[in-house]
Amino acid sequence: MAEQTSDLMDRIVSLCKRRGFVFQSSEIYGGFSSCYDYGPLGVELKRNVKDAWWRAMVVQRDDVVGLDSAIIQHPEVWQSSGHLAGFADMLVDCKTCKGRFREDHLPDLDCPNKDKQFKGRKAAQCQQDGLMTDARAFNLMFKTFAGPMEDTSSTVYLRPETAQGIFTNFNNVVTSARMAPPFGIAQIGKSFRNEITPGNFVFRTREFEQMEMEFFCPPEDDEKWYEYWCDARFNWYVQNGVRKENLRMRPHASDELAHYSSGCTDVEYLYPFGWGELEGIAKRGSYDLDAHSKGSGKELSYFDEANKNRYVPHVVEPAAGCDRAAMTFLIDAYNEQEIGDGEKKEVRTVLHFHPRIAPITVAVLPLVKKAGMPERAREMQNSLMEVGMRTFYDQKGAIGRRYRRMDEVGTPYCVTIDGDTVEGDGTVTVRDRDSMAQDRVAFDEVVPFLLQKQREWKRPE
Ligand code: GAP
Repeated sequence: MAEQTSDLMDRIVSLCKRRGFVFQSSEIYGGFSSCYDYGPLGVELKRNVKDAWWRAMVVQRDDVVGLDSAIIQHPEVWQSSGHLAGFADMLVDCKTCKGRFREDHLPDLDCPNKDKQFKGRKAAQCQQDGLMTDARAFNLMFKTFAGPMEDTSSTVYLRPETAQGIFTNFNNVVTSARMAPPFGIAQIGKSFRNEITPGNFVFRTREFEQMEMEFFCPPEDDEKWYEYWCDARFNWYVQNGVRKENLRMRPHASDELAHYSSGCTDVEYLYPFGWGELEGIAKRGSYDLDAHSKGSGKELSYFDEANKNRYVPHVVEPAAGCDRAAMTFLIDAYNEQEIGDGEKKEVRTVLHFHPRIAPITVAVLPLVKKAGMPERAREMQNSLMEVGMRTFYDQKGAIGRRYRRMDEVGTPYCVTIDGDTVEGDGTVTVRDRDSMAQDRVAFDEVVPFLLQKQREWKRPE
C-alpha cells in the first residue's frame, strides 16, 4: 500500500478536526505521534459502529455471547499464545536517509529521501542496492510492570489483540452460559501494538480498538463456518452503507498464513491511499485452545454428550478494527457535490452515512429565534430523544447554512419549525440530507415518519 496520503485524505483529516471527529492527541503539547482522540462527533460515530457490530454479532443471534476480558493478563498467556516469541515485524533501517521501515512494506513504499538521485525510487530498490541494514525482529508488544518492583518478575504486557482473553475464558463461558459448539464469544476492546510505522491517520495506530469474535465449531465444520463468516462480514459493511464496489475479499496466499492457520481472507477497502485490510477472517484450527491447555495444564475441550465424544473445537475468527471501520465508513460516506446554477453554484460537502452510523440522526432547527418557534423545537427535540435518536439543536444563522453544516457531518434529517408549525397547519419541514428534498409532516407524525425513513434508507449513487 502506498504510504503517501492523497489530497482527498487531507481534506477528510481536516474535516475530522474542524468538525470534532478526531483530534491529534496531546495537541497542546505538540501532539503525540500516531495517537488520536475522538471528539464529540467521533465518539458517537465509533459508538454507532460498535453498536452495529454488537447488534449483528450478538444481539440478533442466539449462538454468540459477549465477554469483556482484562487488558493486562497473566504473562504466561502471551507465552502460550506464541506472542512473546513470534509477534514481531521484521525491521530495517536505511543507512542513507536513517528511516526505519517494516521490511514487508518496502515494495509499496516510495523512498522518502529528498535527494535528486533517489527521486521516484521504491524503498525496495534501496534494500536491493544494499542501502538497508539486515532485517531484525522487533516484538510489537508494549511492556510495563505490575506492582512496585520494576524487574523481570513483574513484567506484564498490554494485550496486542482481544482474542486471547476469549480463549482463556473458554471453559468459564461454556459452563456459565451453557454454550455448545457451534457457538461464538464476541468482544470489543482496546489493543496495543508498538507499530514500527504507524500511519494513514487512524488506519494504523499503536492504541486501537478491536471487534473480535471467536467461533468454536466441530473440526469437520470449520470450512463451512469460514465461508459463512466471510460472507456475513462482507455483507455487514454493505448493510451499514459502504459501497460494494469499494470492498473486496482477498484470500491470503499460503506464504502469508500464520503457521497455525489453514485459511485467512481479508475484507479490503479501496482507501484514498490504495487497497488496505479492514478486517481479517481466519481459520485458526484448535491451535489456541491446544496452546492454552498445554500452557495452563487445564483442559480446554468440549464433551459432546449425545455422541459421548470429547474434542477440541476449531475456531473461525472474524477480527475487525473499530477505528479502521469508523474511518472507512467516513471515507466512503464523503462526497463533494456541485449544486445550484450560475451565481448560486456551490460545492456541498456531505457525508452519506447510513442513519444507523451517523453521529447525529436529526437536527432540530427553529426558523427564527422567536414567535414560539424555539419552544416548539425543544418539544420536538424531546420527543425524538425519547425514542433514542441522537439530536442536535441549532438556532443560529441562515437556515441554508445550518443545513450545510449538518450535511458536512452527515446528519440524515433536519426538522425545521416555522410559522406554519406555530400558527398555521401545525406541520414542520423534514429535510432529507441525501436528496435535499423537503416534506411537510404533521408535528406528531415526525417520529414515525423518521423511523420509517431510517428503515428504508438506501445509499445514493
Ligand atoms: N486476533 C486476530 C487479529 O488481531 P489482526 O489482523 O492483527 O488480527 C484485526 O487485527 C484487525 O484489527 C485488523 O483487520 C485491523 O482492522 C485492526 N488493527 C490491527 N492492527 C491495527 C493498528 N495498528 N491500528 C488500527 N487497527 C488495527
